[in-house]
Amino acid sequence: MNRVVVVSNRVPAAPRGSQQAGGLAVALDAMMGRRGGLWFGWSGEVTSAGRNAPVIKRDGAVEYATIDLTEVEHRGYYAGYSNDVLWPMLHNLPQLMHFRRSDYDCYMRVNRRFADHLVPMLRPDDAIWVHDYQLMALPGALRARGVTNNAGFFLHVPFPAPEAVAAAPGIKRVLRELMGSDLLGFQTRTDRDNFAATAALLLRAERFDAEHISLDGHAVQLGVFPVEIAAEEFAQTAAAQVQLPPSRRLATSLGGRALLLGIDRMDPTKGLPERLDAYGRLLARRPPRSTTMLNIAAPSREDVPAYRTLRHDLETAAGAINSAFGEPDWTPLRLIAKAQGRDTLAGFMRLARVGVVTPIRDGMNLVAKEFIAAQDPADPGVLILSLFAGAAAQLGSALLVNPHDVESMADAMQQALDMPPGERRERWKLAWNAIRGATPEEWGESFMHVLTDNRLAAMPVV
Ligand code: G6P
Repeated sequence: MNRVVVVSNRVPAAPRGSQQAGGLAVALDAMMGRRGGLWFGWSGEVTSAGRNAPVIKRDGAVEYATIDLTEVEHRGYYAGYSNDVLWPMLHNLPQLMHFRRSDYDCYMRVNRRFADHLVPMLRPDDAIWVHDYQLMALPGALRARGVTNNAGFFLHVPFPAPEAVAAAPGIKRVLRELMGSDLLGFQTRTDRDNFAATAALLLRAERFDAEHISLDGHAVQLGVFPVEIAAEEFAQTAAAQVQLPPSRRLATSLGGRALLLGIDRMDPTKGLPERLDAYGRLLARRPPRSTTMLNIAAPSREDVPAYRTLRHDLETAAGAINSAFGEPDWTPLRLIAKAQGRDTLAGFMRLARVGVVTPIRDGMNLVAKEFIAAQDPADPGVLILSLFAGAAAQLGSALLVNPHDVESMADAMQQALDMPPGERRERWKLAWNAIRGATPEEWGESFMHVLTDNRLAAMPVV
C-alpha cells in the first residue's frame, strides 16, 4: 500500500481525535488514524520569523509536519486571497470578494513554499493528497519541482458555474496549477460538472466525458466523493452525552420547551441572518414561551472584515428579537459565539426537536448528517436543510428550504414543530438509511483507491 501524504492548510494541532472546527479535519482525521502516513500543513501559529523548517511530531502511525506562517503570509495567503477571494467566489458570493494583487502574489508564494518544504520529505511511491481551496496552486508547484508521484486534490467546498469563477482575479493561473493533479475530487456532481465546464471555458481544457479532461497533454480524472461521517459511532456518542451534565443543564434550562438548534462556524455562507429573521417571524406567529432557539456560532476568521461585520450584525439581530419577543421569564433566542466540543454538541442535537441547517451555500455540511445520526429513533427531531448544502443531495427527506425565502423557512420551522411523531420517524428513517452505512475512512479510501489505481496512469494522454 502506498504511503499517503496529506497536505492541508489546517493540521490538527493536538493529537489525533481532538476536536476540530470545520469538516475537513473531522473527515481526514479518521482515515489518517487508521492508515497512517504523513500529514503536512500550517501549524496554526503565526510568527514574525522568516522561513522555518517543518516541525515533525508523531502520533501512532501518523507523522505531522507543520510550518508556521509569517504575519505577512497569514494576511495575504490565508485571510486575503484564500478567505477574502476564493472562499466567497467558490460559494457564489462574488459581492463579498476583496481582491488585492499582493494577496494573490502571497497565495502563490505560500503554495510554492509548501512545495519547497514537502518535496524533500517525499518518497517515490507516496500518493499525495492535497486538500481544499487554500492549496489549489500546490499540485502545479510540485510538478514544477519534478514531482511525478500520483497527486490528487479534493475540494471540500462547492465549485460554482464558470461565470462566477471568472469573477475572481487571478483564478485562471490558479486553476492551471490545480490541473497538475491526476485526480480532482468534489462533493457533488454539480461541483464536478461546473469544474469541467470552467476548465473548458477558461483554460480551453479538452473534455472527453464527465470524468476525463486534459490540459496541455496532461490527463486529469474528475470524481465525486461526498464526505461522510461515522454515523453509528456518532449515534452512540449522542445517546451517551445526552445523559451528561452539559446536556442535562441545557434540558433543564428549556423547561419543557421545544428546542430549535443551529450549529455553525460564524461564516457569511451559513445563512445566519436569514435564519434569525425566519425565527423572528415564527415567534410572531406562536404563543410566547413555546420555543427556544439555540444557535452556537463558533467565531471564525476574525481577521477577515466580513466575519467581524457578521458577528456584529448577528448580535444586533439577536438582541432585537429578544427585546421584541422575550418575556421577563423567557429568552426566545440564545446566540452563543463560542466553540463547543463535538461530543457535547452530539448530546445537544439529541435534545433538539428541530435541527436548522440553512446555509446560503455549503460544500457538504456535516452538521446535517450529524443531526440525523444523533436522534433517538423512537422520538426523532426534524431536520430543516438548505437546498444549497451538498448534503441535500443525500438527505431528501429533510424539510428542504431556500434560505433566501425567510417566510417559507418560518413555515418549515412551524411544520417541524407541529409534525406528528409518525411522520418524524418516517422522514428520519429515510435520512438515517442514507448515511448509516458510510464512514469517513471509506470516503478517504475510495479516493485513495482511484488515485493509486493503475487505470489512472493508463489514461489516454493526448
Ligand atoms: C471549512 C473549509 C476548511 C477549513 C474549515 C475551517 O471546512 O473547507 O478548509 O479548514 O472550514 O476554517 P479555517 O479557516 O478556520 O481553517
